[in-house]
Amino acid sequence: MSAIVRDAAGTRVRLTVNGVDHSLVTDGRRRLVDVLREDLGLTGTKVGCNAGDCGACTVRVDGEQVCSCLVPIGQADGRSVATVEGLAGPSGEPSALQQAFLACGGAQCGACTPGMLMAADDLRARTPAPVQTEILEGLAGVLCRCTGYTKIVEAVASAGGPVAADLPVAGAAVGSRIARLDGLPKVTGEERFADDDADAGALTLRVVRSPFARAAFTLGDLDAFVAAHPGVVRVLTAADVPVNTFGIYEVGKDQPVLADGHVRFAGEAVIALVGEAAVVASIRDDDLPIAWAELPPVIGIEAGLADGSPRLHQDRPGNILVRGRLARGNVDAALAAAAATASGAFETSFVEHAYIEPEAGTARVVDGRVEVWATTQTPYMDRDELALILGLPKDRVRVIPSACGGGFGGKLDLSIQPLLAVAAIATGRPVRGVYSRPESMRATTKRHPARMTATFGADADGQLTAVRFHGDFDTGAYASWGPTVANRVPVHAMGPYAVSAVECTTAAIHTNGPPAGAFRGFGVPQAAIAHEALLDDLAAQLGIDELEIRRRNALRAGSTTASGQLLAASAGLPACLDALAPRWASLRAEVSAFNATAEAAGEARRRGVGIGAMWYGIGNTSLPNPSTVELGITPDGTVRLFSGATDIGQGSATVVAQIAADAFGVPVVALALTTPDTDLTPDAGKTSASRQTFVSGNAARLAGEALRRRVLDLAEASDAALIEVPSPGDGDGRLRVRDGNVVSVIELGELQPGQRGCVLLASGSYDPRTTLLDVDGQGVPYETYGFGAQVALVEVDTELGTVRVVRVVAAHDVGRAINPTLVEGQVQGGIVQGIGMALMEAYEPGRTDNLHDYLIPTIGDAPEIEVLLIEDEEPAGPYGAKGVGEPALVPTAPAILGAIRHACGARVRSVPATPDRVLTAIRAARAGG
Ligand code: FES
Ligand code: FES
Repeated sequence: MSAIVRDAAGTRVRLTVNGVDHSLVTDGRRRLVDVLREDLGLTGTKVGCNAGDCGACTVRVDGEQVCSCLVPIGQADGRSVATVEGLAGPSGEPSALQQAFLACGGAQCGACTPGMLMAADDLRARTPAPVQTEILEGLAGVLCRCTGYTKIVEAVASAGGPVAADLPVAGAAVGSRIARLDGLPKVTGEERFADDDADAGALTLRVVRSPFARAAFTLGDLDAFVAAHPGVVRVLTAADVPVNTFGIYEVGKDQPVLADGHVRFAGEAVIALVGEAAVVASIRDDDLPIAWAELPPVIGIEAGLADGSPRLHQDRPGNILVRGRLARGNVDAALAAAAATASGAFETSFVEHAYIEPEAGTARVVDGRVEVWATTQTPYMDRDELALILGLPKDRVRVIPSACGGGFGGKLDLSIQPLLAVAAIATGRPVRGVYSRPESMRATTKRHPARMTATFGADADGQLTAVRFHGDFDTGAYASWGPTVANRVPVHAMGPYAVSAVECTTAAIHTNGPPAGAFRGFGVPQAAIAHEALLDDLAAQLGIDELEIRRRNALRAGSTTASGQLLAASAGLPACLDALAPRWASLRAEVSAFNATAEAAGEARRRGVGIGAMWYGIGNTSLPNPSTVELGITPDGTVRLFSGATDIGQGSATVVAQIAADAFGVPVVALALTTPDTDLTPDAGKTSASRQTFVSGNAARLAGEALRRRVLDLAEASDAALIEVPSPGDGDGRLRVRDGNVVSVIELGELQPGQRGCVLLASGSYDPRTTLLDVDGQGVPYETYGFGAQVALVEVDTELGTVRVVRVVAAHDVGRAINPTLVEGQVQGGIVQGIGMALMEAYEPGRTDNLHDYLIPTIGDAPEIEVLLIEDEEPAGPYGAKGVGEPALVPTAPAILGAIRHACGARVRSVPATPDRVLTAIRAARAGG
């Protein structure tokens, strides 16, 4: 054992990290994770919460997995620490575990991956061939928000077995299960997330936030405050922001970067301290010269709509941000004539994205331009918005997205970026910052809470004849994506069904809650809870099987939607339901036998099986959302893909490359990738609305086809010719084209270098074909739709009210699975997020703003998941593909709620279905309610 030596400079600590001895003098109370990251430069170990809740910081100390954010460095003295950087072999080759994560798709965004790997490394050191229960136990301390855990478990179970599939040859990339092209750094710890890179000597930004949901405030003498606090370089206020307002829509720019005397939600940014990290971190909010006058807040939809409620924004009477509407046919007449009607009221909660990587970044001024390196889903919108805020032309702002450690819609809005940019300009020095977990949860957008009422009518055969729906959505303090939710929900609120009389209305309502924005589905998951429950009600009334009533009503090729759009092709819901039917029947029989046994034994457990169906328009609703991708050849012969489609873990970097490679006609491994950077890649739009595969994929296909045409023309070769390209960087300045027995050589040095350093460059652009909707919501809101259905098997403890999801079978029509492994990962991840929404997630400002009180599904909550990919090819899609990122989550909560009802009769209509709500619903069911 080593002695701990304390001297004037701190504590001397000697430890071994990945086999290398270190000796340092430091404050012994510092956390091990900070020493690893800041002092030793081992940034592979991530920080997701700094509180022992997420496990992202997991390392092995003397062989045992521990959260390094909980270990004071003084306690590491004399001990041996292993981090993700030490997993690879002596020549740097990935370990069996790392290779298995790559091959199985165990890493999506990668933010949890180092922690998962170290927990798995610990497990496999103790149990070389772990079984499922041992894996679940061994990895229980690490949260993953992306994968749904299934592929992580597969990876840990299969490590050491065969891994890499053969890489596809030219023309065979689409449809192949290649490992993600950006996967290796995610498993080695080399991936650079936003807090992993910062300029030497960068100042640190710390944001001071409102403790009140609604208040006025005044600032005291900030110059005196700075003078009294050496190490504080600057305090930023609203006056430092050139144009102190931002927002998604031109007409909705209502959110200040720093509040100007008035705050509208708890967690709103008020001032920002810029200076030395330790100093700005040590200043207590109470010591700041801010005088608060708290005001009664407007909390909840009812309060927002109440007569006499304070108006949050003077130009929005009644606190209505926007209304949405779709109307078709005579709903009153159709309901009056219906053989059966079903009505209900439904509620959902604020839901937090809980991506493992919190908001972070660095800004600097370079040659008179502002550069922002940050975690984001939308670099081009960020650049444009930053230019407006800073009062600069767009070409004086550069946004370089870091690796994105999860987004799910929550990184579509600006967060830390404008604060960093303003600070860098104000101080003339690089400025870095990272939100703490509570800050991330308080300050950023949420899924809209919804209060919905609906009535569905059907004829005696169960054919839907009428739908009336109204949804009020709590959009919180600022507009954010509220208009998108209000406009998308009316299109989808009748469900994926053909019905001729429809009236769907929505309103987005301001309150003093956190701004509600984009979260995997833009309001459609909330509406699906209503339409699926009422379809089950109709099925029960009419004595029709729940799957069968969906089959009778399913939209299909040739159907006309409620917005009047003819679905000419690719509407695969009937195929999804057909694929599920055998499981539906067998699982229902299985739970029937289970329940009979449980009842005979006097047990309180009951099992049930439910079904949910969905549809989802791919891309923006009736708005342009173009994407441009470029493919070029550099003078040495390297084929380079310039894609600005930000990969937030879903796999667009790989999928877009697979499409481009096949379109150009070369193996995907031949492509060099230039990843998103507003200076280096064309605008591929934002990563949202499940659009990148369909829209940027189409752009990549067009770019590949155009470049192929140019090369074949130069070589005077036929369409069937093979283009032979070197591995990236291995070229000899020649491009060879083989056409039968004839080989043509293009001397690249004879071509004039042009844009992006390429001698040949082709661009592809795609914008989905949509139309504006009229006042009744009629038109073509989306060019294509994803469809799907899921069956969930749950177990309910009817005495405790607890619910466990045992199994989910999911069938999704994705058009074409460009990479089935990645598509399955999206479905599995969406399902487990859907379980969170259904059973446990409810954000309450001030009460659940950490990952201890705000529960997200752990590996132990993840059920067995079976994914059935339905490929009803979309003629407009790249090689037939659509999108699946959001669709995967939509039917999960409805299927679970249906299963609870099947298990015990409880009709839970408010989510999350917490034990108290389930017990209340059980009592109501027993009382005949
Ligand atoms: S960062 Fe240590 S547990 Fe979350
Ligand atoms: S891959 Fe696990 S959090 Fe993203």
